[in-house]
Formats: sequence, C-alpha cells, structure tokens
Amino acid sequence: MKYANKYKDIIVNKYDNYKEDERFNRKSQSFEFRTTLHYIQKFLKKGSKILEIGAGTGRYSIALAKMGYDVVAVELVESNLKVLRENSKGLNNLISYQGDVLNLQFEDNTFDMVLCLGPMYHLFNKRDKNRAISETIRVCKPKGICMFAYIPHTSILWNYGVRKGGLSHLAYALNKDGSIKDTPKEIFNSYFIEDFAKQFQKTNTTFLKNVATDGLAPLMRDYIDGGKMSDENFELLYKLHLTTCERLDHQGYSSHMLYICKKN
Ligand SMILES: C[S@@+](CC[C@H](N)C(=O)[O-])C[C@H]1O[C@@H](n2cnc3c(N)ncnc32)[C@H](O)[C@@H]1O
Repeated sequence: MKYANKYKDIIVNKYDNYKEDERFNRKSQSFEFRTTLHYIQKFLKKGSKILEIGAGTGRYSIALAKMGYDVVAVELVESNLKVLRENSKGLNNLISYQGDVLNLQFEDNTFDMVLCLGPMYHLFNKRDKNRAISETIRVCKPKGICMFAYIPHTSILWNYGVRKGGLSHLAYALNKDGSIKDTPKEIFNSYFIEDFAKQFQKTNTTFLKNVATDGLAPLMRDYIDGGKMSDENFELLYKLHLTTCERLDHQGYSSHMLYICKKN
C-alpha cells in the first residue's frame, strides 16, 4: 500500500525556491561534504552497489559514480532531480528516479550501501521517521551499510535562532528539556543525538558510528569564509577535524550528524 507523504508540498516549495546545488560552495560548508564522502569511502567495497535517497542535485551520487560505483539516486523534488540529471549527463552508471523515502520502489536486500542524506530533516512525526528508517534498512543487503544524516538541536538554535534572528520563533517551539518541537512549516527538524540513536533500538542493525560532519566549522565560519584563514591553515583545520569528528565533545556543535549502522 502506498504511504502518503502529507508534507510533500512544503518540501517541494522549499527546494523550488532554494539553490540546493550551491549548498557546499562556502568553504565552511565543505567540511560536511568532504567528511561524509570520507566515511562513505571508508565503508565501500569494490563493486558496491549504492542507493542515495534524497539525492538533491546529486553531489554525492555524481562523485560516487565518477569513482566507478553503480549508483541509483532517488529524489522527491522534480526541480532538484532536473539539476541532478543535467549535472550527471554522460554518467551511464548513475540512474535517477523521482521517489519518496516513505515508498521505495525496490526489492528487499538490493543495495550494499544505502545513503539517506537529507530526508530525515524533513519528516515531522514518529510514524514517518520510523517508516523512512525501516524503508532504508529494508532495501539494504544483510551486512550492508546504511547512513543517515540528521540535524542536532544546537545547530537549529545557532543557525536559525542566533544567526538568522529566529530566537523568538524558536521560543514557542522549545520543550522544557531543550528539544525543539517538529514544526513542518519551519521545514527542518532536529534531534538530541541520543534520541536519534534510540529510533534504531528495534531495528535489525548494529550501530557503527556517529560522526559530526561539520564539527566546529559552522562556529568558525566568519574566520573560514571571511578571508581570515590561509588555505594552508584551512587544510590543517580540516585534518584536525577528521581526527576529532567522532568525539562526543564535537557532536552537539556540528550542523549535521551522520549515523552509520550495519544491517545484521
Ligand atoms: C538538504 S538536501 C540534501 C541533498 C543531498 N543528499 C546532500 O546531502 O547534498 C535534502 C534532500 O532530500 C530530499 N527529500 C526530502 N524529503 C524526501 C523524501 N521524503 N524522499 C526523498 N527525498 C526527500 C529533498 O528534496 C532534498 O533534495
């Protein structure tokens, strides 16, 4: 039975009016892309067949196809898919479909690695979140790897609340424990790190890693992007970041987290 995504229109409207393809252009934002790709490569094996769900304009799918992997990209929003298709012209090992993480059109146990790098940001109730997780795991082969990107609460407080002046909006959405209520019209949801992990307790998976993909870069963006840091120091900072991005100290500060697990 088809599972309806009742928030599809607000997601489509957001991405129709946003230049997703430029998201990693800022130097401070490049940490997320480089770190995620670093961990993807760590777990890939020769000949791995990859599915990316919520592939956006194809930054990861295209990079992985260029490395020679067979990649299937699924994306909800037509305007993003159109850019993905333009950007991936000539890459015969990359197939793309319009689709929804809540209704994946693939057989069970199909892919060696399944990447869900974005859809978890745009799900606003427990049922949909559980469904997205179970669909991602379902299409992954046993012993295969699943990766989920998610946003910690601190990131919303900092990026939306402080940087973009949204603290008064956040006040009505704050729970007593400091978590932020899911509010579909605000588009992005967020988690405490331990709560994201709890969603996997009843799944047939083994936890491998939680990675702070931006680490401290968002807090240092004025230095990194404002011309106050040499390229050499930037690379040194990235090297330091890679050695610390699995540490608890850095996780709450990161704008994005990557939860990595293995299907049993
Ligand atoms: C922040 S973007 C990330 C794109 C890309 N994965 C990346 O990390 O650069 C999130 C993407 O997930 C897509 N998305 C949101 N909800 C989805 C869903 N239910 N099913 C599939 N894709 C979805 C959005 O349209 C968007 O392209």
